Amino acid sequence: MSLVRWIDLKSLTDARGQLCVAEAGAQVPFTIRRVYYLCDPQPDEPRGFHAHKALEQVAICVAGACSFVLDDGRKRENVRLDDPTRGLYVGPMLWREMHDFTPDCVLLVLASAIYDEADYIRDYGEFIEATKNGNEDAPFIHQLADVREVTIGARSRIWQFVVILDKAVIGSDCNICAHVLIEGGTIIGDRVTIKSGVQVWDGVTLENDVFIGPNVTFANDPFPRSRQKPSAYSRTIVKSGASIGANATILPGVTVGANAMVGAGSLVSRNVPDGAVVIGNPARVLRTLSAESE
Ligand SMILES: CC(C)(COP(=O)(O)OP(=O)(O)OC[C@H]1O[C@@H](n2cnc3c(N)ncnc32)[C@H](O)[C@@H]1OP(=O)(O)O)[C@@H](O)C(=O)NCCC(=O)NCCS
Repeated sequence: MSLVRWIDLKSLTDARGQLCVAEAGAQVPFTIRRVYYLCDPQPDEPRGFHAHKALEQVAICVAGACSFVLDDGRKRENVRLDDPTRGLYVGPMLWREMHDFTPDCVLLVLASAIYDEADYIRDYGEFIEATKNGNEDAPFIHQLADVREVTIGARSRIWQFVVILDKAVIGSDCNICAHVLIEGGTIIGDRVTIKSGVQVWDGVTLENDVFIGPNVTFANDPFPRSRQKPSAYSRTIVKSGASIGANATILPGVTVGANAMVGAGSLVSRNVPDGAVVIGNPARVLRTLSAESE
């Protein structure tokens, strides 16, 4: 479920201009006890970086625009506020960061309570602990990751500068290291490790217990041309227990067999049999692992 909840205000427009109305109990889902606004922002100075334990707020950009990051400890969403006729509802236990203010931005905030420092959580680590709420199995998503509408299983860890696009599915106990891009349309099983510098494109499936080494390259378009999308992306499957060594390239449509081992720097242009160790360009079978050594 998205963290973004828009509140449509009553908007009356005639020849004299626009009048916008926010009434408690009508558009605003709480009694308004406080109003404040941010104006004259420094475009490069982000603000916020806290959550509230109980406070409810509606933020309305009545002039200009700014961006909001909302984070519930499991995922982060980035949304642009640039319309004075709608507000962003920000409920309790949501970490918020505001950034990219236009110079004319005026951000009006309606709040459900008067100022109370005890209601703030200003430390992100403390916020993450609080959101677990006894659920130690919650996945960890680093504050510097950009994770959209995705499914992430229990205890998986998503590190700095990882980007995961809408509708990707990631299983439990995975470790997704810094600087990984995962497109929507990818399916990643349980206990999968993806080291840094890997892009997992639409059409790639990584089954359970797969290891993807640093800077492995997947390709999903067999005959790419700039600005021409294929009607469907080739499916690449890495079967359970397989490992792919650093800097290997996996061409589109290839299946890497269960428990196979792809050597570092290999170029895999054909399917890899189960349990095979392959090396070279093009990759060829070096040996086949016995069931025990797999
Ligand atoms: C493929 C691999 C598993 C083979 O290991 P191995 O079965 O122990 O094989 P050996 O080290 O005995 O090497 C056997 C032969 O293959 C060659 N070879 C090994 N790995 C190779 C590779 N990636 N590319 C090309 N040749 C390779 C060796 O030079 C050796 O050739 P030689 O007999 O002519 O000297 C291993 O070399 C490899 O690439 N591991 C991946 C490491 C990695 O990327 N880790 C990522 C985490 S950081």
